[in-house]
Amino acid sequence: MSKAEAEKRISELRRELNHHNYLYYVLDQPEISDAEYDRMLRELMELEAKYPQLVTADSPTQRVGGAPAAGFQTVAHRVPLLSLNNAFSEQELRDFNQRIMRASERTNVTLDYVAELKIDGLTVALTYQDGVLVQGATRGDGVTGEDITANIKTIRTIPLRLRGNPPGQVIVRGEVYMKQADFAELNRIRQEQGEALFANPRNAAAGSLRQLDPKITAARRLDAFFYDLLWWEGTEATPGTQWEAINQLKEWGFKVNPESVLCDSFEAVIAFCRRWQEERHSLPYEIDGIVVKLNSLAAQAELGATAKAPRSKVAFKFPAAEVETKVEEIMINVGRTGALTPLALLTPVQVSGSLVSRATLHNEDYIREKEIRIGDTVLLRKAGDVIPEIVRVVKEKRTGEEREFQFPTVCPVCGSSVYREKGEAVARCQGASCPAQLREFILHFASRPAMNIEGLGPSIINLLLEKEMIRDPADLYTLKYEELLTLERFGEKSARNLLAAIERSKTVPFARVLFALGIRHVGAEMARRLAQSFLSIDRLLKATKEELMAVADVGEAIAESVIRYAGEKQNQRLVEKLSKAGLQMAVAPEASAAGLPLAGKTFVLTGALTALTRSAAEEAIRRLGGKAGSAVSRQTDYVVVGQDPGSKYQKAQQLGVAILSEEEFLSLLRDWTEEQQR
Ligand code: IVH
Repeated sequence: MSKAEAEKRISELRRELNHHNYLYYVLDQPEISDAEYDRMLRELMELEAKYPQLVTADSPTQRVGGAPAAGFQTVAHRVPLLSLNNAFSEQELRDFNQRIMRASERTNVTLDYVAELKIDGLTVALTYQDGVLVQGATRGDGVTGEDITANIKTIRTIPLRLRGNPPGQVIVRGEVYMKQADFAELNRIRQEQGEALFANPRNAAAGSLRQLDPKITAARRLDAFFYDLLWWEGTEATPGTQWEAINQLKEWGFKVNPESVLCDSFEAVIAFCRRWQEERHSLPYEIDGIVVKLNSLAAQAELGATAKAPRSKVAFKFPAAEVETKVEEIMINVGRTGALTPLALLTPVQVSGSLVSRATLHNEDYIREKEIRIGDTVLLRKAGDVIPEIVRVVKEKRTGEEREFQFPTVCPVCGSSVYREKGEAVARCQGASCPAQLREFILHFASRPAMNIEGLGPSIINLLLEKEMIRDPADLYTLKYEELLTLERFGEKSARNLLAAIERSKTVPFARVLFALGIRHVGAEMARRLAQSFLSIDRLLKATKEELMAVADVGEAIAESVIRYAGEKQNQRLVEKLSKAGLQMAVAPEASAAGLPLAGKTFVLTGALTALTRSAAEEAIRRLGGKAGSAVSRQTDYVVVGQDPGSKYQKAQQLGVAILSEEEFLSLLRDWTEEQQR
């Protein structure tokens, strides 16, 4: 095929693929099979691979996500992205209409409104030049946002090229969101892989959209509705109303929300709000209200805006639904940090779209303040529309049969004493080997910044606990090869690898062993400090409060926590067992950093890393002889930029400090580690 022929075929394929993409994703009406679509896409990919100079920004091959970036560029919005004023009741909604009516007496505007669902997602502004998507930006502070074009392109319902005859430049505003089902599936997978869960679909969408690696965004199922035309080049055929604008967006190939309505009276607006307040949970995505917009764009312009929001639009926010139910029982849940959390077991009721049968009561004080008794009738709602919360007791319904709840003084799981720190509301079980805490404790113990036992993840820990092969972390050191072979999923190689990793952990320095013990308030940095000051576990556990508080940054809470730890029999036994197992229970003579690959190099981390925690990254730097600093200066050698980087990122750019993306950092870590091992 000649280059000219290839060029022709490529543009044919793009047109076809963009069209079928639209039919499939936006209209949900595919006309060809998936196999046929894939065949065309493959053909296009092959042609583009052969003629890379023919790849264009609107090619459907560009949706898979390119190379990760070091950070997001800041972009100035051509039109400021304002926010909305809220109306929290029907009355406030009517007040909004009254204000517009008063203004309209002067301006003589018509009072049609468009009512739209308020999608609970993230605003994006997309710029199309000559019909081609050239920029996607977050809202940011409304004046400047971040350039997330690469991520936007991975969203299948967003057109890379507009249909019809769009003007030279168009800027549109819409909402990127994640459907509830996709959110649930994403969290299911994250849980399986031991990753932090997203609190709600909105956070999941935000986290996915603000990935420096567009391949991660591409793997998440994001979607988008568009609702506003922000800018339009030229005046020809400019829509006169919001309703026309929506239809224009639709003609260009955007997905617009099918529930939007044109209302010719304010009563119709109110009816729409009432209807969706009731029916919102029947939607596959979350909405948090209704946006009411004056239909005439000329009238919108006439009314203008305050610094924050236009006067011609308002967001009606749904009130949280409250329902009555009964507290049947109060039970105590022991969490991974030993926190005793009271939980109300309720007569199951439907609230805001789901069946609720329990609500957290947080702590003892909360129960006392709200005067909640077993048998009480209570009002329940979902806080932030997610977490069930008891609003108050309906005291009028008390019968005298209700019982006060006695908060336990010993752990209901292991019988150890329960302690409540001064000034803290939470009561905690003091037993380090309390089964309720054990799984999480062992996970922490084995984690990279602690004992770094490679391959000892949640599922293996579960297996070992289930088969009662371990009852505390010290039991790991007496595991036998034959024993491991009896476990499903364990072969000779994996058993040997795990035992080798456990054995290696015996050389982990004392400071990290101390951190691994999981003493409350003793994080990695504090453990290092305590190790340096007391030099051995024996001396540390014998230290008095005064001795402890003489160490820099050790306050009363930390000192008391160490003393409490030292006083508990279970803990003493564990420390002794670990010591017998051969762990480093004292500081070894200081290993010199000189000669290590990162000796003399200072790193600063900013933003969240995805592949490893911040402390693991810092530990890796230190292991290689480098320093992990907290502020960027000219002395900083590298700044590692994760998700949502802070001002340190800008500072690094200003000072010209070398910037590493997480990906680059990880790959350098691998190189440096190899160098060290050579
Ligand atoms: S109109 C001038 N329409 O709600 C403001 N916003 O609370 C123009 N939102 O930042 C916004 N659905 O992210 C509008 N149909 C809709 C919306 C919508 C969701 C979001 C948007 C905005 C926020 C304001």
